[in-house]
Amino acid sequence: MDSNKLRKKFLDFFKEKSHKIVSSSSLLPSDSTVLFTTAGMQQFSQYLSGEKNPLKDFKTRHLVDCQKCFRSDDIEEIGDDTHNTFFEMLGNWSIGQDEKGNYFKEGAIKYALEFLINELKLDKNKFYITIFRGNKDIPRDGESEKIWQDNGIPKEKIKEFSEKDNLWGPVGKTGVCGPNSEIHYDRGEEFGCKEPDCGPNCSRCQRFVEIWNLVFIQYYKDEKGSYQKLSQKSVDTGLGFERVAAILQEKTSAYETDLFLPVIQEIEKLCSKKYEENKKYFRIIADHIRGSVFLISEGFFPSNVEQGYVLRRILRRAIRYGKIIEAKPGFLIPLANKTIEIYKDVYPEVFSKQADILTVIQKEEEKFEKSLEKGLKEFKAQSSKSKAISGKVAFNLYQSFGFPLEITKEMAKEEGLEVDEKEFQEELKKHQEVSRAGREKKFGGGGKFSSKLHTATHLLHGALRKVLGDKVKQMGSDITSERLRFDFSFERKLSPEELKKVEDLVNEKIKEDLEVKQKEMSLEQALKTGALAFFKEKYPERVTVYSIQAFSKEICAGPHVKKTGELGKFKIIKEESSSADIRRIKAILE
Ligand code: ALA
Repeated sequence: MDSNKLRKKFLDFFKEKSHKIVSSSSLLPSDSTVLFTTAGMQQFSQYLSGEKNPLKDFKTRHLVDCQKCFRSDDIEEIGDDTHNTFFEMLGNWSIGQDEKGNYFKEGAIKYALEFLINELKLDKNKFYITIFRGNKDIPRDGESEKIWQDNGIPKEKIKEFSEKDNLWGPVGKTGVCGPNSEIHYDRGEEFGCKEPDCGPNCSRCQRFVEIWNLVFIQYYKDEKGSYQKLSQKSVDTGLGFERVAAILQEKTSAYETDLFLPVIQEIEKLCSKKYEENKKYFRIIADHIRGSVFLISEGFFPSNVEQGYVLRRILRRAIRYGKIIEAKPGFLIPLANKTIEIYKDVYPEVFSKQADILTVIQKEEEKFEKSLEKGLKEFKAQSSKSKAISGKVAFNLYQSFGFPLEITKEMAKEEGLEVDEKEFQEELKKHQEVSRAGREKKFGGGGKFSSKLHTATHLLHGALRKVLGDKVKQMGSDITSERLRFDFSFERKLSPEELKKVEDLVNEKIKEDLEVKQKEMSLEQALKTGALAFFKEKYPERVTVYSIQAFSKEICAGPHVKKTGELGKFKIIKEESSSADIRRIKAILE
């Protein structure tokens, strides 16, 4: 069964059972305490807690979806048979009770078995079940144990675990949660460690794969860590899409299924190695490029903070592994294209954002490629002469060669060395203080003309987007005492008419003498309100957003003029190519 069919089958199955199909929410959750959407229930958490009424918004208590998720905690695990950074989670929900007999444990368990056995034709004999053992706060889940048995799962295949495995949630520090019961699939002895105590959640092998997590939401974990009983009970489930696809296509992992195989084959073409002998590297590259494609499609860009840092980390990690398997420089672009090809029908955003995705990846690759070789040499020199990697060395690799700390740690681990992380953090802090002081000094004496050109740059960016469309993105900018230079993503030369339109529009905005508004906020908030950010910059957690009515809204360190009328006359003096798919405009103020 191909993966598209699986996705559809799941949604249709629950639709038949009067569930409403809801679209996947964004990878950026509305709850700003967490970086990414990591579970299907996030977009429903207020319904699960009882704050909102599902009947009002969905006209039903029964929902089903296929959610895009991204988990950065699992990065170290990638390369094995079952983990991914980006993945899809299929889920069904039954929220709260009503007199019409909303379903809870029994309904959830019966639906899950029916879908797996009747629809997917999986062999029930391969199912193992886990249930919650109970602790001082929450009782043992004997109820689920009985329901599984009543539905034909033998007692010896039902295992109990502690809160680590079978008390799910909350996603952030606080939130809804509850005991869960999971279906694990026995892939067969050949995948096992053959130890007598091997079973679901085995720490040594991946014979048993968790495929479906049924959570019985009944509690709210508060700030103090106490579990408050909710006024309602709900079902929240997560079926691992990639894992089930692998089982159905009789493959060892998702990497050999239609979700990844074209990418794996493309890697083989772009390097001198074979997948079979280099599985881990191939898998990490394929996973990370897919994760990057989806993150960039949602407007994330590589940076040194928060989500942008995770994106940078996976892109650079893919580049390093590419180096190990001797992939050709620029290898990420064809892989991104393959990934987009696989997903474009299901997630049109990866296709509509293709130009952005490729530009961002290309820029990041070019940037890191330049310093990677030198950084690797530096690492080698340092690691061969000492027993540990000091924080100073790790910081130098980060600062001068663009190695995220985690990559240095990974390389150190390969050599059996440790990294002094504490010292790294101290160095980082010291550096941040110095550069903040430097920035203030620089902009303090920046001069009036520089402010004018800064503001003109924002107007130009805004005008380009109005005339050429939103796919125009800043790729670079530079200001001298005479002119501004602006690089942006666009695939062809601009026509004289287009250039004139852009120039006129900027001059129109200058004539209108608009106020340049300045507001400080968190980076997260700024991005959420749609402020444009230039991905190559390292943004601090709090940023300043400059806006000129609805025409321009950008994160920027300034300085800017107070009103656009101060600028004088704007004139474009040159339009040329800067690099592939990137144009460059030079302009002056007269
Ligand atoms: N919310 C549950 C999970 O993410 C289903 O595993």
